[in-house]
Amino acid sequence: MPKPDTATLPRHIAIIMDGNGRWAEQQGKPRIMGHRAGVESVQDIVRAARELGVGVLTLYAFSTENWKRPPLEVQALMGLLKSFLESELGTMVENNVSLRCLGQKDRIPAEVRKVMERVIQQTAGNTGLILNLALSYGGRSEITQAVQSIAQKCLDGTLIPEKIDQAVLEQHLYTAGLPDPDLLIRTGGEARLSNFLLWQASYAELYFTEILWPDFRKQDLLNAILDFQKRQRRYGKTGEQTEQTHPN
Ligand code: IPE
Ligand code: IPE
Ligand code: MG
Repeated sequence: MPKPDTATLPRHIAIIMDGNGRWAEQQGKPRIMGHRAGVESVQDIVRAARELGVGVLTLYAFSTENWKRPPLEVQALMGLLKSFLESELGTMVENNVSLRCLGQKDRIPAEVRKVMERVIQQTAGNTGLILNLALSYGGRSEITQAVQSIAQKCLDGTLIPEKIDQAVLEQHLYTAGLPDPDLLIRTGGEARLSNFLLWQASYAELYFTEILWPDFRKQDLLNAILDFQKRQRRYGKTGEQTEQTHPN
């Protein structure tokens, strides 16, 4: 099996973990069994990213739109999240992983939020992989709340509209201070963003695979990275200009 070149790894990989429900349906099981199986993929992919030396891994676990799912499914997902966080805390501490959460924290049920805040706090000093869980996350809601806080600062007199530039907007996103995703993977066969990292993914390389999330494992991540490493990122320039700046 070919292995990715570690010198040109994506600094930030973002994943839309889709296909749990269909995975379960294919096996004649309730959807929740698919979510449960998906947790094993999360563990495998976090381990793989950490071992490879990826800087940031962002996992889309629950969107602002997912609140519209049947209450029992939402409840089950929140329960899985809570037990995942409880069981992974030790592993994260041991492996120098630092957990962050992107999303509307106030909408997360209190008992889940408490565990999440504990894990965030206890892993805050870790300097290895940054693991972002996108929970109750929506790109439009993120940009809207950024605009609200910027507007409030202008009203308070701590910011003037002329000073609002892309850097200021970025500082008000959940991902402030982190590099933009270089590689954005979506499992489960759909080719859409579903409100994920709308601002940050402007120049991400997109990788879509039919593999359903519960079947997605380390080798599939390596394949996505190998594909990424074959691409030429031109950022609007010509291929020739790009080769001059990046001679490899
Ligand atoms: C992704 O799998 C997990 C969440 C959105 C929480 P889905 O539950 O969307 O699975 P499909 O797309 O119905 O197969
Ligand atoms: C996107 O998957 C959200 C997550 C993976 C958490 P969805 O299954 O909710 O997306 P749509 O509804 O197919 O666009
Ligand atoms: Mg889906």
